[in-house]
Amino acid sequence: MRKQVKNNVSWIGYLDWDLQKFHGDDFTIHSGSSQNAYLIEEEKIVLMDTVWAPHQFEFIKNLESEIDLNKIDYIVVNHGENDHSGSLPALMEKIPDTPIYCTANAVKSLEGQYGKRGWNFHVVHTGDTLDIGNGKKLIFVEMTFLHWPDSMATYLTGDNILFSMDAFGQHYAVEEMFADKADQETLWNEAQRYFANIVAPFSPLVIKKVKEIAALNLPIDMIAPSHGAIWRKEPMKIVEAYAKWADAYQENQITIVYGTEWHGTEKIAHAIADEIHRQSPETVVRVFNVDHTEKDDIIGEVFKSKAIAVGSPTILNGILASVAGFLYYLKSLKFKGKKAAVFGCYGWSGEGNKVLREKLTDAGFEVVKPEVKSSWNPEEDDFAKIPDVVKELTGGEEAGTASEAEVSLPKWQCPCGYIYDPAKGDPENGVKPGTTWEDVPDDWTCPVCGLPKESFVQIGG
Ligand code: FEO
Repeated sequence: MRKQVKNNVSWIGYLDWDLQKFHGDDFTIHSGSSQNAYLIEEEKIVLMDTVWAPHQFEFIKNLESEIDLNKIDYIVVNHGENDHSGSLPALMEKIPDTPIYCTANAVKSLEGQYGKRGWNFHVVHTGDTLDIGNGKKLIFVEMTFLHWPDSMATYLTGDNILFSMDAFGQHYAVEEMFADKADQETLWNEAQRYFANIVAPFSPLVIKKVKEIAALNLPIDMIAPSHGAIWRKEPMKIVEAYAKWADAYQENQITIVYGTEWHGTEKIAHAIADEIHRQSPETVVRVFNVDHTEKDDIIGEVFKSKAIAVGSPTILNGILASVAGFLYYLKSLKFKGKKAAVFGCYGWSGEGNKVLREKLTDAGFEVVKPEVKSSWNPEEDDFAKIPDVVKELTGGEEAGTASEAEVSLPKWQCPCGYIYDPAKGDPENGVKPGTTWEDVPDDWTCPVCGLPKESFVQIGG
């Protein structure tokens, strides 16, 4: 069965309602997906892409029920990855001489996967055109590294449709095939999750490509990606979203990711979440045990965040394997402009925070200095360090009135020169930030010289 897209353009792909995992088991699918192939029937008949190999026979049977395969004049392969080319070998058995239009890298990809079968390749470059009759033509646009070196988009004049391949897609099955018919929250969440996990590493190229497409001055009435819904109403909205997402995107959100053995590191994670809310109630907080949540879902939240906190207990002089695996994946996505903090418990040697710090720095995060490193279970003096950590992550924006009140509190100076600032407290010695001088315990002593509290004199306020 085909679904009409516009005029003589039909969708003839596979709606994958039951898909649970993608890229092997690497990417989690929550709302189905689709592999979108398109049929263009002008004076010439064009098949644009195919579907994943497991659905090849169903795809070809469906195609045959709609059209005599021998009437297909051209096949366009926008991308060689198996989810779009997997039906090609079986199809080409039936129509072996049909010309295939694709990039030079796609030839390498297809021959690499399926062997040299003598297919009739026609290599195209950006700006090349193919006349398909009725006054219409295809214009090819190389999309190198969006997301593979072979990726390409194809533009159909007259109908003004950009077949964008993986770019602008979502893993989301929509029966009507149009974005305006989809649940908008799911649609945009899935489009962003797709960007964060698949497109983000190539963000600089996205910005360049969006400009390049704009410079072609082609009217775009519709964007038809290779996964998920087709953007029919206001198609440039997803292009604008890509431009925004590719530019070190962040919202007022902080995400906490942790692994835990005996729940000590977990307690710190929860306490950090509480403190973020206390200091900055408008900041969205997300908390994930890395062992209980799919990594691509966590990444979707990290992508939106201005900062993250990552925790692991020390184990075997390092960190938990699950946290290490997550950080390895995080690094590959090349996020920019985000802060990070580290935390964790240890029993003996305590290298965990150091390793977290190194790995996050390596992943391109600005790791803040304050941290929580708790010997055995976290105690009051460990929790007392959290406000400083959070202050760094939120950019020092304490919750309105409380923060202002703290700033105006008087400071007290020790004869040795040390100044007690109530806004900072003395967390190292169990005095939380925000503790007024009156509330500092009587047995507290100067952290520099050890003089008692009564030796201090007021110097401000
Ligand atoms: Fe949807 Fe890169 O394949």
